[in-house]
Amino acid sequence: MTQKNNNNIISQKELPEDKKMDLNLRPKTLQDFIGQEKLKANLKIFIQAAKQRQQPLEHALFHGNHGLGKTTLSYIIAHEMDTEIQVTSGPALEKVGDLAAILTSLKDGSILFIDEIHRLNRSIEEVLYPAMEEYALDLIVGQGPSAKILRLDLPQFTLIGATTRPSLISPPLRDRFGAVYQLNFYQTSEIKEIVLRSADILKIKIEEKAAQEVAQCSRFTPRVANRLLKRVRDFAQVHDHEKINQKIAQQALEMLEIDHLGLNYTDRRILSCLIEKFSGGPVGIKTLAVATGEDLNTIEEIYEPYLIQSGFLDRTLRGRIATPLAYKHLGYKRGFPF
Ligand SMILES: Nc1ncnc2c1ncn2[C@@H]1O[C@H](COP(=O)(O)OP(=O)(O)O)[C@@H](O)[C@H]1O
Ligand SMILES: [Mg+2]
Repeated sequence: MTQKNNNNIISQKELPEDKKMDLNLRPKTLQDFIGQEKLKANLKIFIQAAKQRQQPLEHALFHGNHGLGKTTLSYIIAHEMDTEIQVTSGPALEKVGDLAAILTSLKDGSILFIDEIHRLNRSIEEVLYPAMEEYALDLIVGQGPSAKILRLDLPQFTLIGATTRPSLISPPLRDRFGAVYQLNFYQTSEIKEIVLRSADILKIKIEEKAAQEVAQCSRFTPRVANRLLKRVRDFAQVHDHEKINQKIAQQALEMLEIDHLGLNYTDRRILSCLIEKFSGGPVGIKTLAVATGEDLNTIEEIYEPYLIQSGFLDRTLRGRIATPLAYKHLGYKRGFPF
């Protein structure tokens, strides 16, 4: 297997293979949704209050890393509100007409989910403002001086936006969300619970210690956990093991080049580049991207959040620095490779 393939395994971004898996593994109710306790408590109140008032939910924005459960929560909200959900994404909405067609097909109480909402183009965003605020769709009919604005009434819908990059959402759009929720990385114990739950659904036999092993390598991210579980299952199956034990899990993860702290080949390469070429930093993210040959956005969205969260990398005003833990883990003495 190539390193590029192995990189995909730890990518928190959704891959085509995830789509089918997601259908089975997505929790359907808040009760089944593991972790994010504070957020869940807030959501419960948010949902209950809207139900009591018999009004649609306020528009809500979820932000957080890839694979932490933003889409899942949006479906859960629709389920809990007993309403339908229409799903689209920022990049999919190319023309104003695309959005207008969706908006006019909604019903009172429907949820419109826009994934990657930071990637909406400006002209579409402007159509959203009156839609969100006044449930109105302003269409420009005709051209030049004879152009007129035609206002259509829309049903009272709820917009749920999801984004991995909240800072890229324009302030006027952000201000129109009544509720903003952040999803955080999960505890390893929660990821372990998710691994066991998924194993149960997929009828995979796995020992607790093996689940713990998978959880530790999952970048605190449910999507990665589910993907690793499937890879470990494949490995066990090929080696004729009916039940996954700790040793099999370790061997499978080793083959995927994921070490016991969850770092993969590229994580380690980024850190060793930082240590060897830049004396551990500080170095700007752009320079680091050029030096490692990795895409800047990929470093920022996939590698860096985990490296920071697990204490290998620090982000300072002057740039990125490798922490003592990074030196230790990769076998460097401060300043000198062994
Ligand atoms: N809290 C959770 N409990 C159980 N499974 C989860 C949880 N959050 C996410 N998942 C699983 O992880 C996968 C990715 O979640 P998703 O909602 O698509 O993430 P996002 O939209 O934030 O990228 C889903 O298929 C779901 O099975
Ligand atoms: Mg999603």
